[in-house]
Amino acid sequence: MRIDLPDADATDRLGQALARTRPASAVVHLHGDLGAGKSTLARALLRALGVTGTIRSPTYTLIERYPLQGGGEAWHLDLYRIADAGELDFLGLDEGAAVLWLIEWPERGRGHLPAPDLEVHLEVDGLGRRARLLVPTPVGEQWLGQLEAIVRADPSLRVISE
Ligand SMILES: Nc1ncnc2c1ncn2[C@@H]1O[C@H](COP(=O)(O)OP(=O)(O)OP(=O)(O)O)[C@@H](O)[C@H]1O
Ligand SMILES: [Mg+2]
Repeated sequence: MRIDLPDADATDRLGQALARTRPASAVVHLHGDLGAGKSTLARALLRALGVTGTIRSPTYTLIERYPLQGGGEAWHLDLYRIADAGELDFLGLDEGAAVLWLIEWPERGRGHLPAPDLEVHLEVDGLGRRARLLVPTPVGEQWLGQLEAIVRADPSLRVISE
């Protein structure tokens, strides 16, 4: 599914829709160039899941962990600054460690990360952004099915037919 995100508020709304439909456990890979809106989307999603206080970009810390109200933790990673994917091995990134993974720059950790249920590819499109959602697993497919109903009902999020 492709979605037009004309402004940052639309990215927030997509994050909120992802939160509302979140599976019990899921891995999200956030792809896109610098400034494409990965952190904006992750922050909106975490906020909508009830995370309060500062949500800082894990650019320097590599990882930020947030306990979720329903139990379990969300782990937000930004791998932009790692030199070698092997650096991730000491973090104990086995899939069961978190119920929600939000991973920016996942291509830099290839082979050392849990496999995605949802891949969000963000790109700049004029003044706005465009999102492409790919779902390689049954968990992701189910998530997308529920998400699509919300996105189609939201006038600020335009689904681009393919
Ligand atoms: N749909 C949108 N339209 C226009 N601007 C947007 C949109 N979504 C987010 N932005 C803006 O883009 C800027 C960069 O966003 P963000 O920090 O989320 O990017 P990023 O992909 O995480 O970048 P980095 O790789 O540097 O971490 C922010 O100012 C944000 O408000
Ligand atoms: Mg970012």
